[in-house]
Amino acid sequence: MNKKITILLLLGITFFFWQCASKKSISQLQFPKDSIDLKVDSVLALMTLDEKIGQLVLFTSDWESTGPTLRATYKEDIKTGRVGAIFNAHTSEYTRELQRIAVEETRLGIPLLFGYDVIHGYKTIFPIPLGEAASWDLAAMEKSAQIAAAESTAAGLHWTFAPMLDIARDPRWGRVCEGSGEDVYLSVEIGKVKIKGFQGENLLSVNTMLACAKHYAAYGAAQAGRDYHTVDISERTLYEAYLPPFAAAEKAGVKTFMTSFNELNGIPASGSKYLLTDILRKEWGFRGFVVTDYTSINEMVPHGYAKDEKHAGELAINAGVDMDMQSAIYYNHLKKSIEEGLVKVEKVEEAARRILRQKFELGLFDDPYKYSNTEREKQKMFTAENLDFARDVARKSIVLLKNNKVKNALIPVLPFPKKLKSIAVIGELANSKEDMLGSWHGSGDAKDCVSLLQGITTKIGNSTNVVFAKGCNVEGDDKSGFENAIKAANQAEAIVIAVGEKWWMSGEAASRTNLDLPGVQLDLIKELVKTGKPLVVVLMNGRPLTIPWVADNAPAILETWYAGSQGGNAIADVLFGDYNPSGKLPMTFPRNVGQIPIFYNMKHTGRPLALDNKYTSKYLDVPNSPLFPFGFGLSYTTFKYSPVKVDKTTFSQNEKITVSVTLSNTGNYDGEEVVQLYFRDLVGSVTRPVRELKKFEKVLLQKGASKEITFSLTANDFAFFTQDMTFKAEAGAFEIFVGGDSNTENSVKVTLK
Ligand code: NOJ
Repeated sequence: MNKKITILLLLGITFFFWQCASKKSISQLQFPKDSIDLKVDSVLALMTLDEKIGQLVLFTSDWESTGPTLRATYKEDIKTGRVGAIFNAHTSEYTRELQRIAVEETRLGIPLLFGYDVIHGYKTIFPIPLGEAASWDLAAMEKSAQIAAAESTAAGLHWTFAPMLDIARDPRWGRVCEGSGEDVYLSVEIGKVKIKGFQGENLLSVNTMLACAKHYAAYGAAQAGRDYHTVDISERTLYEAYLPPFAAAEKAGVKTFMTSFNELNGIPASGSKYLLTDILRKEWGFRGFVVTDYTSINEMVPHGYAKDEKHAGELAINAGVDMDMQSAIYYNHLKKSIEEGLVKVEKVEEAARRILRQKFELGLFDDPYKYSNTEREKQKMFTAENLDFARDVARKSIVLLKNNKVKNALIPVLPFPKKLKSIAVIGELANSKEDMLGSWHGSGDAKDCVSLLQGITTKIGNSTNVVFAKGCNVEGDDKSGFENAIKAANQAEAIVIAVGEKWWMSGEAASRTNLDLPGVQLDLIKELVKTGKPLVVVLMNGRPLTIPWVADNAPAILETWYAGSQGGNAIADVLFGDYNPSGKLPMTFPRNVGQIPIFYNMKHTGRPLALDNKYTSKYLDVPNSPLFPFGFGLSYTTFKYSPVKVDKTTFSQNEKITVSVTLSNTGNYDGEEVVQLYFRDLVGSVTRPVRELKKFEKVLLQKGASKEITFSLTANDFAFFTQDMTFKAEAGAFEIFVGGDSNTENSVKVTLK
């Protein structure tokens, strides 16, 4: 522990006990105090009001801009002791320098907390979160978070703004790429392992960091998929669809929450006492701290909720916001609000206490520089081991959407034989390293990425003539490269065409109303399909796209998202059969934008679809069904499911029910299948969705092998917010489905007594 802090702590402890004796207690905590609380109180007892407010202030460095404003004076601000945390500053060297200012040049020497958006890796970049979710591999997702934490803590970081837990049912919203997709259960499970991966078992360990559950709440429900737009949903939808990943994150011990930009039913999230105090603190018992999103306190003014910035700060702190990200509103106005009696000083103390607690838990008071270690930074960063793992996760995330035979062929297009004489690799994205990174790529460097062209060349380039032709850009209407691309395709034995979106077309502030392939990419595919040769469309994108022509006419389609540092190698592994694809879609692919919102667990309606009856719930121009359903993904092998069996057809509230199927690998390759269990509650005091995912298991089966897969369920697995909003399972009939995607009809009926 540094000397200054030790002396201060001793002084503080004495002062604190004196205060307790004279005032009973200054603590607002409702929890029994532990030794860290006592240390926190002892530090707090020495702080001036300005210094206490300072702990509530988070400013960005000028290294990166992840929002609309920068603050050029952040280093000066640190010196005054009026800033407790900095984000967008990293590397051991730079964090050490900023930490030195805080520790040596401020009155109390309280260490800074360094935050950053480590969303899918710090230096070693993994697939975008939506892509990783498609792996349905929880152990892999936990490990990629561990690696991200090991790398970023070696670069001086203490805190990641991840995982994003927003349920995303509208692919127009660009931020769908940052989360786990549309499903509540899958998002809950992924959120839990991500938090475990980042925070580990012990925050004092130098490899672990604080995680942040964001964006609280319902940010994904932005009207019309437009980022930052209004959210107006029922309390039931909030509790059923949008809150569960956050509630689960709290249970999993996440240390911080981030408020969202949106208003929810008329109240901006950063000023919502309902969300921040009633639900988060009182209902769920959250003990960590709440940070706002970027300038979202002052955005309450344009929202029309606060009359000016000072008022916005009062609304935020009184609602339950502990830390102000970048608004400088607490910094500029909070003291005055306290003096005017509009905010109680205890509110500020409570927030400062929560933040100081995390600094203690990280061990920053013992050694403020423990994470800024240049030696460790050299050792941990971008290691061969990390890259191998990134390649593996990327392969697991790839979804095979289609794999047909071309005319006169005996076998499907994929996997390609390695002894091809020639292959044409086409499309701007095929030769792009930068796009492999996706949005929010931390400290990832495009020059370190493996492009698809490189991946293919490395794998077969010695024996196969690999010819690249751009054909066209992702954007624009220039077709001048078509001729070359068609020539290359005509001369090749097989064709790979990479199409999709540029990396910046998804992510924050990247909503789109047209989800077709941008530019003239589709026209190019049409020309290449005419060759009749074995052709695979490799999609790179951050959201579901509307690709009906491709789905009908291209012989093979691989969804590869943005696959990260090792993307090109991973895709080549799949193309040439060194890895048998096992990913399944975490989001429904619509046929067209008019179907949005479309997600698998919709309601049945009173007039469910009947093709022979006009007056049923349908469109005149497209079917109700999506292009590709949630949970869908093919393999080079085939899997067969036996009918679903249950150990009992009637069960009571305290009984377990065992559901099983026999899964057989009936094809010619070893392969992995994600066995998915859904159920439908047939009658409820509130209508229930047509399907709800409740369990899944990813299983590896050798060709020809069979395995019994068993799931155990209790009544609690069927619980929902009933008519009076109590969470419980209602007696009655349920249909349980087990299969390879959300459309499976393989089911059995059971009754809960
Ligand atoms: C704004 C984004 O909404 C949020 O996800 C991110 O963590 C912050 N900026 C910080 O960069």
